[in-house]
Amino acid sequence: MTVTIVGAQLGDEGKGGMVDRWSERADVVCRYQGGDNAGHTVVHGDTPATDGGTTSVGETDTASQVGTEYKLSLVPSGAIRGKVGVLGNGCVVNPEVLFSEIEGLRERGLDPDVRVAERAHVIFPYHRVFDGSEEDEKGELAAGTTGKGIGPAYEDKAGRRGVRVGDLLDPEILRERLEYIVPRKRAVCEAVYDIDPGEAFDIEELFAEYRAYGERLAEENMTVNGGEFLDERLARGEQVLFEGAQGTGIDIDHGIYPYVTSSNPSAGGAAVGTGLGPTVIGGAESEIVGVVKAYLSRVGTGPLPTELGFVEGQTPDGGGDPEAADIATEIRDKGGEYGTVTGRPRRIGWLDMPMLRHAARVNGFTGLAVNHIDTLAGLDAVKVGHSYTVDTDDSSANERLTMPTTTERWGECEATLRTFDGWSETDWNEVADEGYDALPENARTYLEYVSNELSTPIYAVGVGPDREQTVVREDPFA
Ligand code: IMP
Repeated sequence: MTVTIVGAQLGDEGKGGMVDRWSERADVVCRYQGGDNAGHTVVHGDTPATDGGTTSVGETDTASQVGTEYKLSLVPSGAIRGKVGVLGNGCVVNPEVLFSEIEGLRERGLDPDVRVAERAHVIFPYHRVFDGSEEDEKGELAAGTTGKGIGPAYEDKAGRRGVRVGDLLDPEILRERLEYIVPRKRAVCEAVYDIDPGEAFDIEELFAEYRAYGERLAEENMTVNGGEFLDERLARGEQVLFEGAQGTGIDIDHGIYPYVTSSNPSAGGAAVGTGLGPTVIGGAESEIVGVVKAYLSRVGTGPLPTELGFVEGQTPDGGGDPEAADIATEIRDKGGEYGTVTGRPRRIGWLDMPMLRHAARVNGFTGLAVNHIDTLAGLDAVKVGHSYTVDTDDSSANERLTMPTTTERWGECEATLRTFDGWSETDWNEVADEGYDALPENARTYLEYVSNELSTPIYAVGVGPDREQTVVREDPFA
């Protein structure tokens, strides 16, 4: 069977913890989209492993237990636990990052088994140059990208001028592709961005470096026909976990365009991005688990209807709720909602139900994992954005239960809040041991509201940063 783990919000929902926990029962862990724009910290050791959650690049959550900490952005995290890690055809692969992560794991005594789909596209240094230059010019439309060349690599894929992993294996094909692409990239660089192209646009340099990656991929027997490889493993009765990166809210098709990533984190991406059919990913035996953070966080600019407080340089003028700055700070501090490299505070908001209803429809969730219930403990009241009000010509039709199609319209939405009684701090380890019924009653009321609104059962509840601090109601692989 397959289990697909998808972020239901804007990324940073703590998918890593769930992937790490559930990958124990998987034989293969496969990523189906994105590249080294994801960030994932796993602590693994003699003591129970601790997950730091999925974080934006350059940010890591703090692991609080003894153990060895691994920071990965590309290699599927299951590789640390001795599972086969696959990068599916929907991924964009920076081979330098791939090998440096594999080397790092080997230096620490692990022997990761990583396979890469020959249909996956390759990130080149010129993609990173364009990522930076275009962001600089976009002004208010800049998505605040990670600068890893993700968008430009997907652009080349759609423009039918990309280089695929399989092309690295054949020197003639690689040279032919580069001889077509590189002069055009160089011309755009000079004419449009007026910058010195440098080594990133040198055919010979690129050929030598990327051909060496191709040789290494072949020597280490890492490349596969992704769909066939996964199909064979499933036919043997093995369990496959699909690890979504980022979140539905920043999906290129279903997210808050243009403040999105360039791939499909939503569950449909798991079919297209692996070479298995939708009936496999979404079949009767399979599960699609949406990971939800019990509140909302966001890095970067643009609208956020349930925003609390105001973050200078990120919250748009007139946005947020400066009167709720104290609550925002409390949640931010307790939830560790800061980039640890930049120290930049993330914007904080109440749970946005229209966003979650949209995500539930787009993904067809069979179960939910709700994280950070402990972070909200101690508040007198916990609110959710139940619906939006928008100005329409017909005042009777101005309540919306789901997201509008344009981000500009989303910015005009005002959240209609519902208030729940808060819950107190408690011994979360004990709760995790005892199970769902040990959660504070008001927290259960909150969770049941979410579950009912999305018509989806709750499979797990995160009550702390440690891997063991999860209340598991249902194991999707069981
Ligand atoms: P890109 O994926 O680097 O092109 O960045 C596009 C947008 O997606 C930016 O707003 C990034 O901040 C966001 N993004 C990319 N990866 C992540 C992630 O792992 N978590 C949260 N946001 C992300």
